[in-house]
Amino acid sequence: MKRPVARITGTGGYLPERRMDNHELSKRVETSDAWIRERTGIIERRIAAPGEMTSDLALQASRRALEMAGLTVNDLDMILVGTISPDLLFPSVATLLLRKLGGTRFIPAFDLQAACTGFLYGLSVGESFIASGQCRRVLVCGAETFSRVVDWRDRSTCVLFGDGAGAVVLEAVEGTEDGRGLLSTHIHADGVSADLLKASGGVSAGPPSDRGPEMDGIGYVLMQGNEVYKQAVTVMGRLVDETLAANGLEKSQVDWLVPHQANIRIIQGIAKRLGMGMDRVVVTVERHGNTSAASVPLALDEAVRDGRIQPGQLVLMEAFGAGFTWGSALMRW
Ligand code: COA
Repeated sequence: MKRPVARITGTGGYLPERRMDNHELSKRVETSDAWIRERTGIIERRIAAPGEMTSDLALQASRRALEMAGLTVNDLDMILVGTISPDLLFPSVATLLLRKLGGTRFIPAFDLQAACTGFLYGLSVGESFIASGQCRRVLVCGAETFSRVVDWRDRSTCVLFGDGAGAVVLEAVEGTEDGRGLLSTHIHADGVSADLLKASGGVSAGPPSDRGPEMDGIGYVLMQGNEVYKQAVTVMGRLVDETLAANGLEKSQVDWLVPHQANIRIIQGIAKRLGMGMDRVVVTVERHGNTSAASVPLALDEAVRDGRIQPGQLVLMEAFGAGFTWGSALMRW
C-alpha cells in the first residue's frame, strides 16, 4: 500500500503590532540604520507587547492556518511548536497552544528545540507521523518572542532579531497523481558548534534563589556572528544540493526559495548557488528581522496569501540555527 503524502493545506502568520526600526535602535545602542541595513538587510522588526507570550503569537498564526485549511483544533491529531523562547521552562508552548485553541481531544502536543531550524524539524516530524499513518492532520508552528532573550545592551546581537509566529496545517492525502505535497524533508545537527551561538541560562545557571549579581548576562544570546555567517553559507549550500539530489531534481526546477530570514547576504548567497534571481526568493528579513523558528512559516504564509506561490510549483524551504542545526523541505505546492 502506498504511504500517505503530507500536504500543506493551510498557512498562517502573526506579527506583534509594535514596530522597532533601526533609528529607534540607534538611540539604545551605538549603531546606525546604515550599518544594520548594509550588513543584514534589516530595516525594522516587531516586538511583542508586555504580557504577550510566545503561545499568544502561536495562537493567532495557528487560527489563521486552521481557517485556511477549513479545520478546527479538534480535527487535529498532533500539535508541534518550534521555539527557543517558550513562555515557561515547562509546560511546553504546544500544550499551552492546545488549551488556548480550545482543544478537547487528548492529542500529542510538544515543542521542538532546534533554534532557527525548529519549524523545519517540526515539518519533518509531522510528515513522518503522517507517512506512518499515525496522524492525518498535524499543526506545525514556529513561534518566538526573541526580544526577551536578546541583551538590549549588545549591539552585535540586539539589532538582528524580532518576534513573530507562523504555522501550517499538514494533512494526509492519498492517490496524489498530481505529485503535490511534501517530497522530502532533511534535518541535521552537529552539536560541536554550540558555543558560536547560544543563550546560556536554563538549569546551568543554578536555582534562581542562588543567582547573585555575577549572573548578570546569563540567559542572553551570545554569538560569534562572522563565524556563524561563514558556516551558515557553507552548510546551506550543501543542504540545497542534498535536497535536490534526493529527489532527482535540478536547481533550475525550483520555483520558489523560502529561506530562513537571518541576513539578506546569506539569502543572496544561497540564491546565487541555486542560480535563482531574487524575484523567486521570498524575503521578509527587512521587515521582520530574524524571527528564528517563525521566519520560514511567516515568509511562506506571505507568499501563499499574496498569490506568488501557486499550485504545482516547486517550493524549497531551508533553515540554519544554533547547535548547529539545519534543515530543509521540498514541496510540490
Ligand atoms: N552597529 C555598528 N557596529 C557594529 C554592530 C552594530 N549593530 N555590531 C557589530 N558592530 C561592529 C563590531 O564591533 C566590529 O567592530 P570592530 O571592527 O571595531 O571590532 C565591526 O562592527 C565588525 O563586526 P563583525 O561581527 O565582524 O561584523 P560582520 O560583518 O560579521 O557582521 C553580522 C555582523 C552579525 C551582521 C554578521 O556576522 C552576520 O549576519 N552573521 C550571521 C548571524 C546570523 O545569521 N545568526 C543567526 C543564525 S540563525
